[in-house]
Amino acid sequence: MNSPLSIVIMAAGRGTRMKSERPKVLHPLAGRSLLDHVRNAVAPLAADRVLVIVGHKAERVEASVEDSGARCIVQAPQLGTGHAVQQAVPQLPDAGTTLILNGDVPLIATDTARALVDACGGRALALLTVLLDDPTGYGRVVRGGDSGDAVKAIVEHKDATEAQRAIREGYTGMMAAPTAWLKRAVMAIDNRNAQQEYYLTDLVAMAVRDGVPVVATQAHDETEVLGVNSPMELARLERRFQRREAERLMQAGVRLADPDRLDVRGTLDCGADVSIDVGCVFEGRVTLGDGVTIGAHCVIRNAKIEAGAVIQPFTLMDEAVIGPGAIVGPFSRLRPGAVLGADVHIGNFVEVKNSTLGKGAKANHLAYLGDATVGERVNYGAGSITANYDGANKHRTTIGNDVHIGSNSVLVAPVAIGDGATVGGGSTIAQDVPAGKLAVTRAKQVVVEGWTRPKKKAK
Ligand code: UD1
Ligand code: MG
Repeated sequence: MNSPLSIVIMAAGRGTRMKSERPKVLHPLAGRSLLDHVRNAVAPLAADRVLVIVGHKAERVEASVEDSGARCIVQAPQLGTGHAVQQAVPQLPDAGTTLILNGDVPLIATDTARALVDACGGRALALLTVLLDDPTGYGRVVRGGDSGDAVKAIVEHKDATEAQRAIREGYTGMMAAPTAWLKRAVMAIDNRNAQQEYYLTDLVAMAVRDGVPVVATQAHDETEVLGVNSPMELARLERRFQRREAERLMQAGVRLADPDRLDVRGTLDCGADVSIDVGCVFEGRVTLGDGVTIGAHCVIRNAKIEAGAVIQPFTLMDEAVIGPGAIVGPFSRLRPGAVLGADVHIGNFVEVKNSTLGKGAKANHLAYLGDATVGERVNYGAGSITANYDGANKHRTTIGNDVHIGSNSVLVAPVAIGDGATVGGGSTIAQDVPAGKLAVTRAKQVVVEGWTRPKKKAK
């Protein structure tokens, strides 16, 4: 019986090989911490308790799991994985199954964790192992002896003999054990080994000795069980994760210019006939409608882009909604609250923040729209801005339908421009403009008679 099910996630280690101030389990992979990945993977198992062992920079790790329902247990000092699980013993019940995971093995799949719990069944020690081309650093799974192919022990890399180092089957850092036995056995682990650490992996030889059956399941997908111990390993795993994401998208019909030059740090949902050029980063929740085209090197965060919109290269957007058929970029910046209607055009070096643009409105060059409500078919000239901030408060600008704002205008908010009005280029508009009228504030041009251009003096 697996019930009650307890889960222990070990996350106290310093992660020396990362050479970083940040605790290893808080380093991000695909925009989420390693620990978050592990927690999310086991969440569907609906365990009776989830215990996270924290130690190095404990407060930071604890803060990251706040509100998750997991309980943190401090391990100080950190004397090894066996010592980590010893700290959890007082919080474990006397029955059921305990699933133990490494906080630095992030891409473990829910099904794999569930299968391991089932293999334990509250009576056997179930281990997840993997065949590796290069098992350097991994605990080696030692099989054989009297019992044929049965697992006898796990020997850590640093303690392994030459012959043992030749073993390619490595321990993944994930096991499920009968809780009552685990509680007794883990307390008996000592630190007589090359690293003078309490190795959790010593449990295997203890189970053999105690007559607890040991079952080892081999993981089929190496990506799922790779650990992160160094920046190199982190980057390698990130690329594997991204490759998997790219393949998932391509299988759904998305055309990627290069699956190796895509980064998804969140969820990306795509309709039919979406194409994405190289070097794009998608963060948070992004939805791309049918036929959307994303140019090279765009960064798109928490955005909804509707059918047929074209996002040209080097566009940056955050919390924006792009209407169907809109054209944005190159070099546009859409900040939170930018809501573009159908067929809107936003061109190069245009910044839009907390503003709504009606169908067919255009701001094609070098402009700023902040806290504005812009009507349909408006033409917002090059170099024009909404002066939305008076030094203390933000104010709104309202622009009606079919308005033409000439180049280099300053609209001093709060101000309203009526339907069909025109603002002459170079105007500073601080008062409302009535519908259908022309407002111009620039000084009259004078032609200065008799003026001559200065000449360079001879040396
Ligand atoms: C561990 C296993 C090794 C396995 C490998 C797979 C042991 C002794 N070795 O080695 O057999 O092949 O994982 O990735 O278990 N931690 C604590 N407290 C500590 C020490 C570590 O909570 O005192 C945590 C770390 O934060 C980390 C995890 O335990 O999340 C694993 O520790 P790490 O030092 O990375 O062990 P490995 O050398 O990778
Ligand atoms: Mg490790």
